[in-house]
Amino acid sequence: MEYGAQYRSRNICSHKAYVPGEQPVSGGEAIKLNTNENPYPPSPEIKNAVLGELESLRLYPNPPAYELRDCISTLHGLSAQQVIVGNGSDDILNLCTRCFSDENLKVGMLDPSYSLYEVVASLQGSALIRVPFADDAFSVDPESVIGSGANLFFITSPHAPSGREYSVDCFRQILKEFEGIVVIDEAYADFAEQNALCLLDEFSNLIITRTMSKSYSLAGLRLGYGLSSPEVVSVLDQARDVYNVDRLAQVAASACLKDRVYFEKTRNEIIKERERLVSKLNEWKWETSPSGANFVFARPVNANGATGPAVAKDLFEFLASRRILIRYFPQHERTASHVRISIGNRQDMDILYKRLMEWIHQEQQ
Ligand SMILES: Cc1ncc(COP(=O)(O)O)c(C=O)c1O
Repeated sequence: MEYGAQYRSRNICSHKAYVPGEQPVSGGEAIKLNTNENPYPPSPEIKNAVLGELESLRLYPNPPAYELRDCISTLHGLSAQQVIVGNGSDDILNLCTRCFSDENLKVGMLDPSYSLYEVVASLQGSALIRVPFADDAFSVDPESVIGSGANLFFITSPHAPSGREYSVDCFRQILKEFEGIVVIDEAYADFAEQNALCLLDEFSNLIITRTMSKSYSLAGLRLGYGLSSPEVVSVLDQARDVYNVDRLAQVAASACLKDRVYFEKTRNEIIKERERLVSKLNEWKWETSPSGANFVFARPVNANGATGPAVAKDLFEFLASRRILIRYFPQHERTASHVRISIGNRQDMDILYKRLMEWIHQEQQ
């Protein structure tokens, strides 16, 4: 027998895979400002932690990653039963749809947001409800989430791709009335002023997801975690791959979490660079959204004063041809005239500013 398309499951037939930002194979020669990675290396503490674990690689890892869960729960002042760790926070988002959605239990998301929510809902064969934002500033109307009819609702805060933060009051209003599970995806919360951690005590139907890919510089390691009530965590644990976090990831993540000095230092550098980028762009009259993340969402203006999807596309292509990778999102009218620029180190950002000046200058000719 040979493989035939008829062997595919119904969910896979209608499925569209996630499309990540470009990841150059050689890595080195491009300035990567397109997938919100951290420009600094991870904590130097990682080296000894990984080296010390090498000989143990013949053994399976501890399935629930108890020590790492302990470390995370101590950091956030929670119990270890309120923590689940995953192979990146994408793994946790996937577990959420596995456990709390199906053909009858719908998934909701604010549109546009992180497009993986749609992917994990579709793999589960679950209908997706797209709730529009209230305005172009990506404001959330709590009533539109409460009345969405979803059983599982994803909210990104700070929002991607805009960087906008939402208040605890907004979440409290939603959680008080929403009948189902609310996931607040806080992938970028370490760069923000507010987060929803204080609501975990109040609402047992809240799941907060965090990643170590951004603020801890561990995108290549794949480590994320979920925080919720012990009841919800035990449900998620039932669907988790038994060995979803390998030995190296467990010890490396613990070492990085414990190095608070390095974490604060690199995070503050990124926030400083973010503010420098915002003021540069504003000087050129580019509209920017206030960002609580490690990226800035901005509407480019060319030398003729024009904005719009064609201008954003032109800038994206101009920079790509000079091996500076940023992101633009032509699929949605609220994002099509904008670009998203991840925060790099000072040197890379200075090169970016030079190229942006050239782009503006070129437009004048
Ligand atoms: C909003 C959001 N959530 C989750 C993730 C995934 O993070 P991880 O690398 O932990 O899978 C990303 C990655 O870009 C993201 O932008």
